[in-house]
Parts: sequence; structure tokens; C-alpha cells
Amino acid sequence: MTSLEKHLDERDLARSLRADVREGLAATPKRLPPKWFYDARGSRLFEDITRLPEYYPTRTERAILTENAQEIARITDAKTLVELGSGSSEKTRLLLDAMLERGTLGSFVPLDVSESALLEAVESLNSAYPGLAITGVVGDMTRHLRHLPDGDGRVVAFLGGTIGNLVPSERSAFLGDLRAVLHPGEWLLLGADLVKDPGMLVPAYDDAAGVTAEFNKNVLHVINRELAADFDPLAFEHVAVWDPAHEWIEMRLRSVRDQVVRIKELDLDVSFAAGEEMRTEISAKFRKARLAAELAASGFALRHWWSDPQDWFGLALAQAETI
Ligand code: SAH
Ligand code: AVI
Repeated sequence: MTSLEKHLDERDLARSLRADVREGLAATPKRLPPKWFYDARGSRLFEDITRLPEYYPTRTERAILTENAQEIARITDAKTLVELGSGSSEKTRLLLDAMLERGTLGSFVPLDVSESALLEAVESLNSAYPGLAITGVVGDMTRHLRHLPDGDGRVVAFLGGTIGNLVPSERSAFLGDLRAVLHPGEWLLLGADLVKDPGMLVPAYDDAAGVTAEFNKNVLHVINRELAADFDPLAFEHVAVWDPAHEWIEMRLRSVRDQVVRIKELDLDVSFAAGEEMRTEISAKFRKARLAAELAASGFALRHWWSDPQDWFGLALAQAETI
């Protein structure tokens, strides 16, 4: 039993991509939001990243979920599992299995900006879980939370550490918006990558096989295709740096030479100096106390916290409080 709801059609996507590109390329330093990585190719590249030896977050979070999914199902008694930035929903199967086994779960609502990733996930989940009502929502979690189905007994899973890809102002707005659509007592299950040695963090974002570099440059392919631009991906280098003040990894694209890029659909010429860096993603790393404080400021009480033996990745279970 599946359906797909679209809150982002081609026209909305094109409109918001145009606005983001116009604004981001006029800024100093230049920047582009990471959500534009994820066309069909970008979503596949992300899945490849999750299997790289250097990229520890996915397998670490999977191990935490394997260990604790039954307890999460017991504590929450979820009737509906919502998943934001769901991608392949591969790890989510651990939650679905545990919640179905407990007998409380009736529906699953994955939401993602990437229609291709969502469709593939929904089709595959539908054959694996024939009795479950699955509603895929194509949407932007920073804009479309109000379109999530209302109900009671909802658990919202936001896994993978994707919360860290929102800049701090987006993050607090997002948490506030999410709290506003939940009823007191409903749950947020939040995966957060933790602060650790940059010697481990940087390779996770600059792997030896160059998959993350391809993923990073994919945003240029997306802009070329969608806005008739002429970015030469070979004229940009992948950069991943640890910013100790903000405690985040920053991915950038560095122009290897002076160049002018034409973005035909925007009737815009953009100059890049040799060595100029454009920010394409932040991936913030968290500490438990800081995350608990951010959650509290948005009306969520941190009730449970799980992590791996090395404290590489944290899984927070927070409950919407009365506001
Ligand atoms: N949750 C999965 C996938 C993480 S990759 C995991 O843990 O492995 C990040 C996912 O978030 C991608 O599928 C991407 O398309 C989606 N995404 C990124 N920005 C988004 C936004 N603003 N709204 C909705 N989905 C978004
Ligand atoms: C989706 N998100 C949590 C990934 C991350 O680790 O920040 C995206 C990513 N960027 C580079 N590699 C993976």
C-alpha cells in the first residue's frame, strides 16, 4: 500500500534552485546549499560514500540502531514513523522491523527532496513490508513540515547526521518548526555525528577513492543541467576542512584558475579567481550537552541517548514538551 505526495514539483524545484544559486553566487564568500547535491546521480554517490572505509557515520549509526531499535520501539510505541531526509531508508528498516514486531506501527512516511531516491526506497520498502501503509512525501524539510500527516503516536526519525548539514540559523528554525507540528509527547529520533579527532573527520570527507569529491562536484552538474550553465567540473577542486571554532567540516569547491562561468537561465556571468573557494556544505559535529540545550530551546526534552563504544556517533530520543 503506497502513495506519493509531491510538495515540490519541477517548477518549485527550478524556482528555489534559481533563487539559491543567484543568492549564493552573489555572496562573499560564495556558497551553495547542500540539498542540490541530491539528483539521481548525487543520491547514488551518497550511497557509495556510506560504504567507504573512511566514512564511519553510516555503519556506526547502523550498529547503534541494531543494538537499540527494540528499546526505541518499546519506549515510543510508534503508530506512525515519519522519516526526514530519508534517502534509501536502509537503516530505517531496523526501526520498522522492531516497531512492527511490537505491533504498534501502521504507517511509514518518508520525506525527501530527492524524488528519485524516494521512489526507489518506497518501491523497495513496499515489497519488503506489504502490510504497511507507506506514503512518500517529496518535499523540503525546511519548508514542508506542515504537510506531514497529523496524528498521534508519531515518531520522527532524522538519521545520518543530516541535521549537521543545516547552518545554525536553519537548524534552530527547523527544530522550532518540527516542534510546532508535533503534539506534546510525540518523539524525535535524531542521529548526530559527534566531535572527534580531525585526523579521522577529514578523511571521512576526503576519501582516497575520490567519491566524496565527485559528490561535491555533482552540484555543478546539477546547475549545468537545470540552469544551462557551463561550469567545468575539472576546473574545480574538492576541499574538506575542519573548522575548530564552529566544530564543523566544511566542503568547498576551489577554482583552479581565473574563470567566468555563464549561467544562461539566470542571464548571469560569475567570476571566480584562481584559488577562490565556494562553500557547498557544512557538516556540523555535536556534543551531547550542546545538542540537549538546542533541543530544549526548541521545546524538546532529551529523554534517551545512545552511542557507540568509541563515542563517534550519537542517537538522541527527544520528546515534544508542552509549550
Ligand atoms: N537518512 C539517510 C540519507 C542521508 S543523505 C541516511 O541516514 O543515510 C541526506 C538526505 O537528505 C538525502 O536523501 C537528501 O536528498 C535529503 N535532503 C537534503 N536536504 C533536504 C531538504 N532540505 N529537505 C528534504 N530532504 C533533504
Ligand atoms: C547527509 N549528510 C549527513 C552527509 C554528511 O556526512 O554530512 C553528507 C556528506 N557530505 C559528504 N559526505 C557525506
